Amino acid sequence: MSNILLVTSSPRGEASYSTRVAKELAAKLRDAAPGSTLVHRDLAAAPLPHIGQDFAVAVKAPAETLTEEQAGLLAASETATQELLDADTVIIAAGLINFSVPSTLKSWIDHVARAHKTFRYTAEGPEGLARNKKVYAVIASTGIYTNDSPAAAFDHARPYLKSVLGFMGMTDVEFIDVEGVGLGLEPDETILERALGETRQIELSAVA
Ligand SMILES: Cc1cc2nc3c(=O)[nH]c(=O)nc-3n(C[C@H](O)[C@H](O)[C@H](O)COP(=O)(O)O)c2cc1C
Repeated sequence: MSNILLVTSSPRGEASYSTRVAKELAAKLRDAAPGSTLVHRDLAAAPLPHIGQDFAVAVKAPAETLTEEQAGLLAASETATQELLDADTVIIAAGLINFSVPSTLKSWIDHVARAHKTFRYTAEGPEGLARNKKVYAVIASTGIYTNDSPAAAFDHARPYLKSVLGFMGMTDVEFIDVEGVGLGLEPDETILERALGETRQIELSAVA
């Protein structure tokens, strides 16, 4: 049994490769373990707002001083944070946008990276509180950034996700790459099938 949180962020709807691969992985992992739950947070359909002054003030203010608007902003953050804390498997799907994650995914991270909830500072340094989770991150892109690619330094999605998720305690992050789509070096279907093949291996090892 597993609580799975699926976070998708592509603005390309049904055409999205990252969403397709991530959805298939989520459904397979759910079906592999009876009693599992699956929560889908679709950030393209329902984006969390960018962090503004109201939010920045609200996260540090005593509850009784909050305006209705600030309380609403905090409530959205708390729901998203609780979804993350409740999950033992997190699947994040993103297509590269200008060498990083879509801004909707960045916004989600801004809402779940919460002091005293998903991290805290101690005398020994920062401590992640969102621990004991397996994270799969499906990253689609036209460019090729992995396997010692000369373009590796342009990839600000994987290093960023690894750092910020690790900061919150999620150190077990496995990337599933859907790279080179639309580039013309090989058919998109071949790239997609390779990524789906990886998800099938994950499913098999989850069942074993
Ligand atoms: C506005 C925009 C910016 C993009 N920027 C990049 C980029 O910086 N690097 C890259 O390799 N691909 C880039 N792409 C291509 C997408 O990453 C690619 O289409 C990928 O399949 C998107 O993920 P999705 O299929 O899950 O929507 C960009 C696409 C769009 C629409």
